[in-house]
Amino acid sequence: MPVHSADDELLHRALELARQGIGLASPNPYVGAVIADARGNIVGTGTYTYAGVKHAEILALEAAGAKARGGTLYINLEPHAHQGRTPPCTDALIAAGIHRVVASMPDPNPKVSGRGFDKLRAAGVHVEVGRLEEQARRLNEAFARYIRHGVPLVTLKSAMTLDGKIAPPPSEAMKLGDFAPAEGGFSGSWITGETARAHVHELRHQHDAILVGIGTILADNPLLTDRSGRPRRRPLLRVILDSRLRLPVESRLVQSATTERNNDVLVFCSAAEENKRSPLEKIGVTVEQLPATGPDGHPDLPAILRRLEQLEITSVMIEGGATVNGTALAANVVDKVFLYYAPKILGTGSIPFATGAAFQHLGERAQVKHLHLHRFGEDFAVEGYLRDPYA
Ligand SMILES: NC(=O)c1ccc[n+]([C@@H]2O[C@H](COP(=O)([O-])OP(=O)(O)OC[C@H]3O[C@@H](n4cnc5c(N)ncnc54)[C@H](OP(=O)(O)O)[C@@H]3O)[C@@H](O)[C@H]2O)c1
Repeated sequence: MPVHSADDELLHRALELARQGIGLASPNPYVGAVIADARGNIVGTGTYTYAGVKHAEILALEAAGAKARGGTLYINLEPHAHQGRTPPCTDALIAAGIHRVVASMPDPNPKVSGRGFDKLRAAGVHVEVGRLEEQARRLNEAFARYIRHGVPLVTLKSAMTLDGKIAPPPSEAMKLGDFAPAEGGFSGSWITGETARAHVHELRHQHDAILVGIGTILADNPLLTDRSGRPRRRPLLRVILDSRLRLPVESRLVQSATTERNNDVLVFCSAAEENKRSPLEKIGVTVEQLPATGPDGHPDLPAILRRLEQLEITSVMIEGGATVNGTALAANVVDKVFLYYAPKILGTGSIPFATGAAFQHLGERAQVKHLHLHRFGEDFAVEGYLRDPYA
């Protein structure tokens, strides 16, 4: 493909616009569009948001008006040729006289993929596909997994020491079944530094749901909210695996689950006694009972993910602890990892990254590929894939 730096620059701008839809586009993909006139001047831009309904290319066409005629559309994703919540964008592009379309990638939805490009080409529009494709694919990887396989993209996030420990040994109070009185938990401090922890909120912002086991609530008493400060259309869904409904009503999580947060705490259990269930529900926690078909009499993780897909959750970030990490890896539901490392060593007796008998039989299934390394002050993180979301 010939190198057109002006094309790349304008497509970069489209990708930046698409990223402005993070938190606002799900369950649909992130799309940004730029229209340039024949001389390469930007005459219209658009970002797709679910609440805004109109697609990015339509917003860009509206901004460009008559100046769109003879111009080029730069867009990270193939324009739609079918009737969805809005009419086909391809028709509007053809009617507006767009001469050329430069797109990064086809729509990952196998039912419509390629149809938009075909329709544009049939109308005489010059179409180029594949520029900045890797960036575009990464941006919409959750949508790809969700639309192609009917399950959310699952990212396993953990913060650990160099020797792979996620927490110091359990305290006496925790062993007695008490729960931590404040965030930070019984250990009273954090593994990673402030910069890495701020980045976790960026990751939470990119996800539709966060998932932990009841052990983490009892140990750390976390809030599990998105505190990135950026806007989102739906609150981050906080999912707790708690087969026996041990979730304390006085936990910060439950106390923050008021109706103002719009049912954003969802607990999966396998036995929901009325005396445990109703105080939680009164506060605004949603409790769902699932058959205990998973290992150790727990609700089965693939069934939980299918349920989350029904709620239009396209991405889930698992934030531990050790038992849930082990179960998720063993159940082969993890698509990618984001593992933060602090230059510390905790040693024997501390809690490992993942536990469970099944985890010992993982073998090659835990191979992490396509690594990206990140630095956060003294800490670093490894991001990588266990599965191609587009496969
Ligand atoms: N550094 C980090 O990034 C990080 C993050 C999170 C937690 N942690 C640490 O991890 C420790 C807690 O680990 P943990 O293993 O006790 O807690 P956990 O993994 O959060 O929770 C485990 C519990 O979840 C329940 N559960 C329900 N359904 C399950 C399923 N399908 N699969 C697995 N578990 C299921 C089980 O309790 P029931 O049998 O009662 O249902 C199980 O004992 C704490 O020390 C915490 O500080 C560290």
